[in-house]
Amino acid sequence: MNNDTTIADKIIVALDVSSQSEALALIDKLPDVSFWKVGLELFVSCGPAIIEILKEREKRIFLDLKFHDIPNTVAGACRAAAKYNVDLLTIHSTCGKDALKAAQSALVEGAATDQPTTKLIAITLLTSLNSRQLAFELKIPLELPEYALHMALLAKETGLAGAVCSPQEAEQLRMSCGDDFLLVCPGVRPKWAEGGDQKRSMTPKAAFKAGADYLVIGRPITASDDPVAAFARICEELG
Ligand code: C5P
Repeated sequence: MNNDTTIADKIIVALDVSSQSEALALIDKLPDVSFWKVGLELFVSCGPAIIEILKEREKRIFLDLKFHDIPNTVAGACRAAAKYNVDLLTIHSTCGKDALKAAQSALVEGAATDQPTTKLIAITLLTSLNSRQLAFELKIPLELPEYALHMALLAKETGLAGAVCSPQEAEQLRMSCGDDFLLVCPGVRPKWAEGGDQKRSMTPKAAFKAGADYLVIGRPITASDDPVAAFARICEELG
């Protein structure tokens, strides 16, 4: 995780496509992207082959499978995922402390070396949800920032490496969780891009300023008419 040399290395591009051929086309079109996110759609479609493809090209990998299950099951999934040696792996904080602990231990056990490379990070609250949905759909009686912070602290207390949060919560999480807690922020939108279903977004510059370590950006790049220009423009705007 510490081989970032340029600002481009801190941008994780979401490979949200449904086939290996579409994924390959994007990876080859964007050689300057060093960090790719493989999410549910692509992993369910292609399986571990996509991990091999990215490794052959010496890319870093965020395997965003968002595990959410009982302790025994998430532990099994993390033990199995450890062999992929990806950089980042996700689990929902809402699994609870026992499951988070079991997942973290299993990831360490499953690693090929005693210095595991994979960092397990927790989803605090999906960035497509807003405070209204938190209150009325999920019936959570906390303000959204307070809830996101609580979920991040749960992850920190159980020994996870970091959390996924909206850039809008990054500043508060950075202050409360400390500098060594990794903050990965999706919900990032340059001024010139469409918001889509992201409800708590910020510009890339504002997200880094708020304390994000890595930004996850998908559609503003991948759905653009010119993904190369969109990625370059984001890097340029970040200076
Ligand atoms: O296209 P867009 O930039 O909205 O993509 C954001 C990516 O980050 C998606 O792959 C989405 O699954 C992921 N993500 C998110 N919110 C979270 C966790 C992950 O949007 N809390």
